[in-house]
Amino acid sequence: MDKLLIRGPKRLKGEVTVSGAKNAALGVLPAALLLSDVCTIENIPNILDIAILRRIMESLGTRFIDIDANTLRVDPTNVSSYVATSEDMHLFRGSYYLMGALLGRFRKAVVTFPGGCNFGVRPIDQHIKGFEALGAKVEIEHGHIKLSASKLTGANIYLDVVSVGATVNIMLAAVKAEGVTTIENAAKEPHIVDIANFLNAMGADIKGAGTDIIRIRGVKELKGNAVHSIIPDQIEAGTYMIAAAATKGDVLVKNVIPKHMESLSAKLIEMNIKVEEYDDSIRVWGKDRLNRVNIKTLPYPGFPTDMQQPLTSLLTIASGTSVVTETIYERRFKHVDELCQMGADIKQEGQSAIITGVDRLTAARVTASDLRAGAALIIAGLMARGTTEIGGVEHIERGYENIAAKLSGLGATIGCFEEGEDTAYARACG
Ligand code: EPZ
Repeated sequence: MDKLLIRGPKRLKGEVTVSGAKNAALGVLPAALLLSDVCTIENIPNILDIAILRRIMESLGTRFIDIDANTLRVDPTNVSSYVATSEDMHLFRGSYYLMGALLGRFRKAVVTFPGGCNFGVRPIDQHIKGFEALGAKVEIEHGHIKLSASKLTGANIYLDVVSVGATVNIMLAAVKAEGVTTIENAAKEPHIVDIANFLNAMGADIKGAGTDIIRIRGVKELKGNAVHSIIPDQIEAGTYMIAAAATKGDVLVKNVIPKHMESLSAKLIEMNIKVEEYDDSIRVWGKDRLNRVNIKTLPYPGFPTDMQQPLTSLLTIASGTSVVTETIYERRFKHVDELCQMGADIKQEGQSAIITGVDRLTAARVTASDLRAGAALIIAGLMARGTTEIGGVEHIERGYENIAAKLSGLGATIGCFEEGEDTAYARACG
C-alpha cells in the first residue's frame, strides 16, 4: 500500500480494539533469545517492525511457530550467531535490543546501528555506558558495534538521560550477569514493565520496573516454557481516542489499560471532550467547541512524545492558541508543514509549535515523514473537507496494525492504492 485516501469530514462511531504494544513486543521478542527453552508470546501486533525483527532473529537461528495471527511460539535453542548486520537492522529503532540480548546470551554481539524515525540525533551512548559498566568492551568499526565480555558483572548505572531503550537494553544484558545491577534514573514507560514481567515470568529476578530505580539480580538460567501476553498499545489507543475527539464522534476504545492513558485523558477533558473510563476500555465522545490547551512532552507518566503529533492535529481546530513543546526530540515537527497545507495555522518556534485554531481543515495531498506524523495526517484527513491523499504510508504500517480497516469499522471512508493506480479505484484496505 503506497497511498491512503480519506474522505472527510466523517464522525467516527462504534468500537475499536487495540492491538498489542509495538514498543513492548520489540523488547520481548529479543528477550526470548536469553532463554534456554521455548516460550509462547501472545497479543503480538501484526506490524512491519515485528515482521522485520522476526526475519533478523530467524537469520540468527531462532525458530518461530505461528499459533495464530498474534501468537508465536519462539524457540531460541538453535540460535548460534551473534552477528546481526543486515540492512534490516537499519529499518527500525527496536533492532538496538539485539545488542543487550545477544551480549546477555553469548557475551558477544556484532550489530549495525539501529534505524528508526528521523527526529534528529538519536545517540546510544547510554546503552554503551551501561554495557561497559557491566564489563563489556565496546568497539565501533565500519558502522558496526562490537560488544564482547569474558564475563558480565552487576553494576550501579546512573542514566544521564531518561532513556527507554537504554533502560531495557541494560536489563537484557544484566539478567544473566553475576551479581546485582541497579539502574538509576531509569525510564518508567509501561512497555518497560511489560518486558521486565516477561523476563521475570521466564525466571529472572527484576524489581522496581516502572520506577526510576530498577534492581536486577543476575540468574544462571532463564528456563522459559511459559506464556506471556503483550500489553495493549498505549499509543495506538491514544490515536483512536484523538480521532474520535477530532471527528466529534463517539467511540469505545477496547483492550486498553486506562492508567496508561491518564496524561492524554486529562488533556482531552481539559479540551472539553467527554472521556469515560471502564475496566479495560475508554469511551471518547465530543460534539462541542474544543478548548485550546498547552502540551509539554515528558517521559512517562508525563505526556508521551509519541502522542504529540496526533494531538497537534486535533489542536488545529481548537478555539484559541495552543502551545505544544517537544522536550524529548530536537526535530519532531515534520507534520507541521503538511498540516499547514490543509489550512492549519501553526508556527514553529524552537522546540514549540504555536497552534492557532481554525474553523476547519481542507483536504490536500500530504506525505507522512514518520510513524506518528502519519497518524497525525490520518486524523487531519478524517477532519478535513474533501479527499485527502496521504503518501509515505510505509511509515504508518511500521507501527499500526490494520489502521485503515479499523477506521473503516468506525465508519471512516478510507481507501488504499498503489503508486500510479487511478485513485478512482482506491479499494478497501486490509
Ligand atoms: C523509544 O525510543 C520508543 N521506541 C520511541 O517510540 C519513543 O518516542 C521513545 O522511546 C521515548 O518514549 C521504541 O521503544 C522502539 P529514548 P528510544 O532512548 O528508546 C536521548 C514510536 O513512535 N538518548 O527514551 O530511542 C534520545 O536522543 C517511537 O513508537 C540519549 O541521549 O528513546 C532522546 O532525546 C518513536 N542517549 C531521549 O534520550 C541514549 O543513549 C529519549 O530517548 C539514548 C537516548
